[in-house]
Amino acid sequence: MDLSRFPRRRYTPFATPIEPLPRFSAALAATCPGGRGPTVWIKRDDQLGLFPGGNKTRKLEFLVADALAQGADTLVTCGAPQSNHCRITLAAAVKEGLKCRFVIEERVPDSYDPAASGNNFMFRLLGVEAVTVVKAGTDMGAAMARVAEELQAAGRRAYIIPGGGSNAIGGLGYVACAQELQQQLFEQGLHIARVVVGSGSSGTHGGLLAGFLGNRIAIPITGIGVSRDPADQVPLVHKEAQAVVDLIGAGFEVPRAAVHCVGGYWQPKYSVPNAAMVEAVQLLARTEGVLLDPVYTGKIMAGLIGLARSGELKADEPVLFLHTGGLPSLHAYEPVVLGDTPV
Ligand SMILES: Cc1ncc(COP(=O)(O)O)c(C=O)c1O
Repeated sequence: MDLSRFPRRRYTPFATPIEPLPRFSAALAATCPGGRGPTVWIKRDDQLGLFPGGNKTRKLEFLVADALAQGADTLVTCGAPQSNHCRITLAAAVKEGLKCRFVIEERVPDSYDPAASGNNFMFRLLGVEAVTVVKAGTDMGAAMARVAEELQAAGRRAYIIPGGGSNAIGGLGYVACAQELQQQLFEQGLHIARVVVGSGSSGTHGGLLAGFLGNRIAIPITGIGVSRDPADQVPLVHKEAQAVVDLIGAGFEVPRAAVHCVGGYWQPKYSVPNAAMVEAVQLLARTEGVLLDPVYTGKIMAGLIGLARSGELKADEPVLFLHTGGLPSLHAYEPVVLGDTPV
C-alpha cells in the first residue's frame, strides 16, 4: 500500500520497539491450563511521540497534516473526561502553533472534574483554549460543528477531528504501523501467530487490519473491546477498515470474517474499573516494569490474559500485544490500581 501521496507530519523519529515479555509470560503460564501459556511480545506504541504518546499520535500525523493543508488555525475534537485522544491532539496543536478546543462527553454522569489529575491536568497545562462539556448520548459531531461555527463567526478556521481520530485519514496511521511492524518482524526474524489490540473508536484496529490485508501480512488480529461487545464493535471496525482501504484506493473488499472482536472485558462500563484490569496492570508492572492504563490497555491486557487462560491463545504461541499508551490516566485511578479501593 502506497501512503506517499498523503500529507504526513512526523511526531516519532523511530519505529516503536518490539520486545519480549519473558517474566510476564512465565507468570501468566503458571495460571494457564497445564502451566503452559503463550509467549507474549509487546510493541511499544506507548513510546510514540507527543509524549506521553499513544495510538493517537500515529493517527494525528495524517490528520494534522490534512488540517494544515486546509489552512486551519484550530483543532476541534471530542472525547471522554480522561481522554488520551484530546490530550495528544492538544499536544500536536501546540507543536504546530494551532489552537485547540474540546467537546467532552460525560459518559458517566458528573465525571468531568476540570481540577482532576491525569489527562485533565494536562489539558490545563498544555493550554486548551475552551472545553464544552455535554451529557452522555449527545450528538458529538453536531456539538463540534457548533464550536466550528463559533470560530468561523470570529474569522477563524476550525478542523474537526472525530472522536479517537478514527476516520479514514486517521486510520492511515495504523496502515503505516502495519508496514513498520512487517519490516521489524523481517529484520528481527520474528514469527508472530496473533496480534492483540484494543478496539474502541476503531481507528487502531480497523487501520491495522486494512494495513495487514493490503500488505499481505497473514497474522490474525484480535480486537479486545474497550466499550462495546462484538455485535456492535465488529460493524464499526469493518466500516473503518473498508474506509481506509477505499481512501488508499487499494480496491478490495475487507472480509467480515477478518474482523475478530472479543467482548466482556470492558464491563461493567467504559472507563469503570474491574478486577481483571487491576490484576493485568499489577502483573505487567511487577513482572516487566511496564505500565498500562486503567481505561484501555489494562482491560485489553486483561482480555489477553483471559484468552490465554481459556486456551484460546495456545501454549507457546507467540502473541504480540500492541501497547497503545494512555499512561496519564493511571494517575487518576491510583488507589484502585494499587488495590486500596475495592472494585
Ligand atoms: C490508550 C488507548 N488504547 C486504545 C484505544 C482504543 O483505540 P481506538 O479508539 O483507535 O479504537 C484508545 C482510544 O482512546 C486509547 O486511548
